[in-house]
Amino acid sequence: MKIGFFDSGVGGMTVLWRALRLLPREDYIYFADTAHVPYGEKTKSEVRGFVFEAVEFLAGKNIKALVIACNAATSAAAKELRKEFGFPIIGIEPAVKPAIQRSQQKGKRVLVLSTHLTLREEKYNNLVARLDDAGLVDGLALPGLVAFAERFEFRPEVVLPYIKEELARFTVERYGTVVLGCTHFPLFTDMLRQLFPAGTDIIDGGLGTAMNLKRILTEQKLLNGGSGEIEYYSSGSKIEDGEKLDRYSGLLARLDHIYG
Ligand code: DGL
Repeated sequence: MKIGFFDSGVGGMTVLWRALRLLPREDYIYFADTAHVPYGEKTKSEVRGFVFEAVEFLAGKNIKALVIACNAATSAAAKELRKEFGFPIIGIEPAVKPAIQRSQQKGKRVLVLSTHLTLREEKYNNLVARLDDAGLVDGLALPGLVAFAERFEFRPEVVLPYIKEELARFTVERYGTVVLGCTHFPLFTDMLRQLFPAGTDIIDGGLGTAMNLKRILTEQKLLNGGSGEIEYYSSGSKIEDGEKLDRYSGLLARLDHIYG
């Protein structure tokens, strides 16, 4: 049986990249809901509807576990999905806790980069309210990065001016840690690094999510000997076009370069 990975688009590839490192002997189905991306600009109930439709589809493929490799979808639907489906469901949320710990040690603040939906939702706001006694956390939505990633646009001369403009009202030296609270954003880590002082930690929840997946599969004795094969779906249609498949594997190569 395969492991299902789900995102509104290509962002979940940043979590899949982590899983492939930790669990190379599994097979994967990657579902990008390209008909409905961006989730971050939609309402919670719209997103919940799209996520349920996608997960029904993946359930029909007989997956043994599901990774919701999308912060927006996790915050809109993870709880309800767990009530509905019998397989383990692993979500992702902004890595606020380690970020506060690291920034506090440096006497600096935390900047969470995410989407409007995640930053507005209860799940994130409860997390910050619970952990951020000292009021260190600021948030910024960068929907433009989702759009760039969906167009496979990674040219710094196109992307950097957008990020610079969005960051203009922030004093970047004040931040000790930047949290990537949208799974699309690690694809731009090389550019983000250029805009924050050396020594600023840029972290995301991808590794923690892949580790949770491995732990749960191990505990439930669901590990098996696959070959790291990945089947790609775009909102319910299997991607078979060689050029499109190359673009997806190109993202994994980009992440090899970024994470080293
Ligand atoms: N990749 C998604 C996330 O982690 C959302 C991107 C979007 O569709 O707006 O939140």
